[in-house]
Amino acid sequence: MKKYDNKVCVGIDYIKWHSYASKQDISIDLEQNIHTLISGMSGSGKSTSLLYYIIKLYFAFCSESLFIFADFKQDDQFKPLRSCKNYFAYKNCVNALDIVYEKMHLRQEGVDKSRTPIVLVFDEYVAFILSLEKKQKEEVMSKIGEILMLGRSLKVSLVLACQRPDASVFPQGSRVNFGVIIVLGSAIKSIYDMVLPKELTMDTNYKFDAGEGVILLQSRDLKFIKFPIVINNERLYEICQEALNGKCKIEAKPQS
Ligand SMILES: Nc1ncnc2c1ncn2[C@@H]1O[C@H](COP(=O)(O)OP(=O)(O)OP(=O)(O)O)[C@@H](O)[C@H]1O
Ligand SMILES: [Mg+2]
Repeated sequence: MKKYDNKVCVGIDYIKWHSYASKQDISIDLEQNIHTLISGMSGSGKSTSLLYYIIKLYFAFCSESLFIFADFKQDDQFKPLRSCKNYFAYKNCVNALDIVYEKMHLRQEGVDKSRTPIVLVFDEYVAFILSLEKKQKEEVMSKIGEILMLGRSLKVSLVLACQRPDASVFPQGSRVNFGVIIVLGSAIKSIYDMVLPKELTMDTNYKFDAGEGVILLQSRDLKFIKFPIVINNERLYEICQEALNGKCKIEAKPQS
């Protein structure tokens, strides 16, 4: 039996907050929405929201879950995480991906019958791809594509952040497997056009601040979201460290 909650609050409703100062949760269903894509221009709050995402998923999955973090840029706000066992920086991001990919294959081959959640959190994925030679670039993209296509039933998730999530860096149309797509900040039209279905046109006159934007669930449900700020919050960094060191001190909530 699963030991964790499927529903996880990932932020609050932007409109309710700005109109009535009321905090209404925006939740995702982890059973359906296994992979998350966070995009937006530089400074829109992508990396900060990744920290919050790790915390929320860790609270949901907790015991026995495995979190692996690939930090291509080595952002200052991830400094407290650099000594963690499962933190990989710059060129070592390829090792983070390989660990997760191999674990997924052991499950696929039936060698590993467990289905405890494995989460690969990847910051600046597109910049990482651009830094690679052609052969390695193709290998990396193909592994990411496979995780996107096969991860759901094998309980292997991707939480990936990049500025422009162009379809070309997600081979074979695998980008459609992101059940959660978030665009933060006042993005340019071309970013919305890339990820939103044609029938959901986005009004680019909205002036979102950092950590605010839109969230698209299962390619149909579009909401406006606001992430809480987590920088300089020591306790929250401690939780991220626990997640990335694989030391769970938090009891998983029994499923209702
Ligand atoms: N949820 C938030 N609420 C308020 N301010 C935020 C929030 N998230 C981020 N910010 C502010 O925006 C700044 C930029 O955030 P962050 O570094 O996460 O952006 P980014 O999209 O990752 O940028 P880059 O692409 O350059 O790495 C932060 O230093 C912080 O001051
Ligand atoms: Mg960043």
